Amino acid sequence: MSTALTWEISADSSDATERLAAQLGRNLRGGEVIELVSDLGGGKTTFTRGMVHGTDSRDQVGSPSFTISKEYRASKFTIAHFDFYRLEEAGVVGAELAEVIGDSQYVVVVEWGDIVHDVLPEHRLTVHLSRTGDESRKLTFVYPRDLGYLLEGLK
Ligand SMILES: Nc1ncnc2c1ncn2[C@@H]1O[C@H](COP(=O)(O)OP(=O)(O)OP(=O)(O)O)[C@@H](O)[C@H]1O
Ligand SMILES: [Mg+2]
Repeated sequence: MSTALTWEISADSSDATERLAAQLGRNLRGGEVIELVSDLGGGKTTFTRGMVHGTDSRDQVGSPSFTISKEYRASKFTIAHFDFYRLEEAGVVGAELAEVIGDSQYVVVVEWGDIVHDVLPEHRLTVHLSRTGDESRKLTFVYPRDLGYLLEGLK
């Protein structure tokens, strides 16, 4: 993605990560695809929780690890949350993912998306979370210019 922009910020607590993500949630319009990348326990699900709280959804965010996908209902769109951790092949869930990508009624969030990289559109926001301490993370946002509106109010 030659036109990708990068922006980073540190979050010194889970709450700080959730607050940043909540602001991003307020900026969602529907149709976005967000890939979250980190080591185990890096904060991907925490980020998703904040993001969903930033929309008008009151649904409970949990780790979808056991069910692989979860949906949270907001008034303008549904947030589809996928977690491919330890899945050997994308299979039926990969098909489910392909179905919601590109649908403006959905915002798609993916954890551990390596095995579905061929399904993920290049036009997406990727958030890398890296551990800089027990309670601190560096958040790096990589995105095409026209998704810049997602970071309004975070910067
Ligand atoms: N600055 C921070 N941002 C996010 N999480 C943090 C931060 N500091 C500490 N934590 C803690 O790290 C853990 C992150 O767990 P979380 O489930 O969000 O990670 P994950 O990347 O989804 O994990 P997994 O790889 O298992 O899916 C939580 O216990 C959270 O409270
Ligand atoms: Mg998780």
